[in-house]
Amino acid sequence: MHDLRTFLDTVRRERPRDIVDIARSVNPKHETAAILTKLEQAYRFPILFFRCVAGSPFPVVTNVCGSLARLALALRCSVGELSRLYAARCAQPVKPEIKSEGPVQERVLIGKDVNLESFPQFVYHQDDAPQPYITAAIVVACDPQTGKSNLSFHRLMIVDQTTTAVFMARGKHLEQIYRKYESAGEPMPIAAFLGVHPACSLGALYTGSAETEEYDIIGGLQQSPLALVNCVTNPLHVPAEAEFVLEGLVPPQTRVNEGPFGEFTGYSTGSMSCPMFKVQAVTSRQDPIFQDIVSGHSEHLLLPILGMEHHLLEAARTAVPTTVNVRLLVPLTAYVALEKKDDSQPQRVIEALWASDIYAKQVIVVDADVDISDLREVATAVALHVRPDRDVYIHHPTLGTELDPSCESGDGTTAKLGIDATLKTQTTRPVIKNRVSKQLLESINLSEFLQPA
Ligand SMILES: Cc1cc2nc3c(=O)[nH]c(=O)nc-3n(C[C@H](O)[C@H](O)[C@H](O)COP(=O)(O)O)c2cc1C
Repeated sequence: MHDLRTFLDTVRRERPRDIVDIARSVNPKHETAAILTKLEQAYRFPILFFRCVAGSPFPVVTNVCGSLARLALALRCSVGELSRLYAARCAQPVKPEIKSEGPVQERVLIGKDVNLESFPQFVYHQDDAPQPYITAAIVVACDPQTGKSNLSFHRLMIVDQTTTAVFMARGKHLEQIYRKYESAGEPMPIAAFLGVHPACSLGALYTGSAETEEYDIIGGLQQSPLALVNCVTNPLHVPAEAEFVLEGLVPPQTRVNEGPFGEFTGYSTGSMSCPMFKVQAVTSRQDPIFQDIVSGHSEHLLLPILGMEHHLLEAARTAVPTTVNVRLLVPLTAYVALEKKDDSQPQRVIEALWASDIYAKQVIVVDADVDISDLREVATAVALHVRPDRDVYIHHPTLGTELDPSCESGDGTTAKLGIDATLKTQTTRPVIKNRVSKQLLESINLSEFLQPA
């Protein structure tokens, strides 16, 4: 079985130091985020299980996916195998299985019985809006033209007992689907579910074509069909073994002020105007666990990386098949290692990545012998292989993200940067990297030279 509870049991059994139970009552306003921050400052990244959160009857689990070791445990592989295994399993999707009932509908609250203020009312950062947020919600919606369903995480700011704001990044699939409903003057039915196995979170973050259904990707990742049930108030499907589901509509042409909110970049986005989610039903297990993700911390940063790296590598390989790898080590920046065949290839990779994702703001291409997991090696290649008047590319104007503090337009319009930090083959002055003969290195036995005098 692939649900949140079985994963927590697996962690307790196989990595007991990775989960900390906190019995003492905690304040959801700032205190839980401060506890997590303090642990991270001590280089500790456990799952936190808060048994008692002031103001809410529900226990809370946070930081479930806050370490690579736990993501590897969830997919049953080693940390080193994660990227390759993610790609291999996404390439073998498995269709979900529709069930007539599931634990997530053990309790059903409809209409006037819905009260989002009974949820833990989380506020994370000092400069965030006073309104609480739900951050671990995966939103499902259906494209009215193609009939394909889409999954993606969306921060939900609780406005009142039955309303949230929903932030949809421009250019991403949910926003594109919403625009179709809005231009037809129709409300968009959605469901937001939370409390799931990490394979479900990783699958929801699959980045690729709108034709690919993330429920099939989740099936691929867990190597078995994901069990779904029909929503109670709309025709969407949700995971049968989630902890909570919020069902409802996003009406057209209605907006609410949302934020400020501290984002994954480590910076706060100012106040924004966001569509509203009118919640018509909340279903849950009988004794649900509320899942939370502390914004801007390790879990928030780690979760999207596998999906994004996989997507950018595919895009780069479509442009230049000899692309070796793509790494995302800092926000909005892709480092690309290339087995270069000619000097025009880096520019082709840069342009392909710019076009493939709003979050690919900086693309830095190096030769395959540079370790792109090592920022020092990449910075050295930039310092020594780049002639700025020849090797730096700027794309303007283009769609980036309004979550980037340097983006001054409210709609995400910005500029992108590309740096070709490969050694150039077509130069008048050959550039030769210092080398030591491999044969000589292998033949040297240090102990023969380092005898005490
Ligand atoms: C914890 C978390 C919160 C996120 N919050 C949002 C959000 O509020 N709005 C948004 O557009 N994307 C958000 N994202 C990113 C999207 O989930 C991600 O870009 C997704 O892959 C987009 O899906 P798509 O490719 O189907 O458009 C969040 C990601 C994570 C991990």
